[in-house]
Amino acid sequence: MSETVTLSMEPRQPSASGLDNVVAAETRLSHVDGEAGRLIVAGYDVEELVKTHDFEGVAAALWSAAGLDPAPSRETVRQGLGRAREAAFALVPALLSSNRHTTVTEGLRTGLSMLSDEVEETGDKDIPAPIRAPLATLGTAAVITAALCRQRNGKSPVAPDADAGHADDFLRMLRNERASAEEVEALNAYLVTVADHGMNASTFTARVIASTRAGTISAVIGALCALKGPLHGGAPGPVLDMLDEIGTRDNIEPWLQREIAKGERLMGFGHRVYRVRDPRADVFNRAVTILTNGNERVHFAREVELAALAALRTAKPGNRIDTNMEYYTAVLLEALGIPREAVTSVFAMSRIAGWTAHVMEQERVGRLIRPQSRYAGHWPEDEAAA
Ligand code: ACO
Repeated sequence: MSETVTLSMEPRQPSASGLDNVVAAETRLSHVDGEAGRLIVAGYDVEELVKTHDFEGVAAALWSAAGLDPAPSRETVRQGLGRAREAAFALVPALLSSNRHTTVTEGLRTGLSMLSDEVEETGDKDIPAPIRAPLATLGTAAVITAALCRQRNGKSPVAPDADAGHADDFLRMLRNERASAEEVEALNAYLVTVADHGMNASTFTARVIASTRAGTISAVIGALCALKGPLHGGAPGPVLDMLDEIGTRDNIEPWLQREIAKGERLMGFGHRVYRVRDPRADVFNRAVTILTNGNERVHFAREVELAALAALRTAKPGNRIDTNMEYYTAVLLEALGIPREAVTSVFAMSRIAGWTAHVMEQERVGRLIRPQSRYAGHWPEDEAAA
């Protein structure tokens, strides 16, 4: 088990630059055991969670674990989320008219910025106050992601159906037709599995912002900005680019060797905490195999994965680099017809449930997160003495 230090103590070299092993918060939301490859979310092993919950269920479980009293039920979340999607649709025309030259994730960032941090006080009175802002951000993320994807194909937005399940309605808003039950189940499996994951970079960002009392909407926007980087939630698009670039079986080995020799990172591999295979990669691998009946793309991805793991073991013998969840996220979301430029936004559509639960926890702690830095610059008195 790795040694830990608290955030208030001086971090040790050489890992200080990444705050490795620093404990920055106490949480009841999720736990990542990187040595055992185990992820617990709201008291469930992730493999069990995905069998017993849909996305609305896991959002209710996280917000309940964050200490909301009364704890919101799955049904309350489902109804509230439907209403939040309807409210978000009113933002779409203004967003689409102003947002032609950004990526989908940047468009989502703009769309979330149209919400007010005062939504808890001023929002929909039929939704319990503590979950108004969390639901507003979740509803907005789904509606805006679908609308921006359609705009890129020259298609007009599709209005939400407040009575539908969240995963079902997202796919319908994206395609303008109902998805199959298997597709809805696969998207639910994805959204449930990635809803929370310990003190990752975006969650830490959300907690820092929450600690300043800036509000839930601001915390979610900041967290989205952290998520979008390729070392965090921006990896699946590049994973698909990699599979496309490799193209054929003959090219797998030469392509991997060339990239590693150039010092490039292989997207979808490696993790700060997991030293074994990310358990979420297995959940997605199973979902995508059921969905696609193990089609050619899935076989190819599996071959590239095995070759990449072998190549990384040879090139980086001291680092235990294994497959992370972004690898099969890419393949799964592609099989669901989600455009690759939207996968980070779809990740955010789920992770907002976790971020907002962390905001609730952090606001209860009530203490500003404000670490120290070590000054390594010149001292005025040294200059004077010289
Ligand atoms: N491909 C090639 N080399 C790698 C990879 C990779 N995917 N990951 C780590 N390494 C190498 C580094 O180059 C470094 O080598 P060096 O010591 O010879 O310089 C060594 O392993 C250690 O790298 P660090 O960046 O210190 O390892 P860390 O544990 O901090 O990295 C990270 C984690 C950032 C995710 C990294 O593995 C990576 O860049 N992966 C590719 C991007 C990716 O898949 N991101 C999604 C992460 S999952 C998520 O956030 C949801």
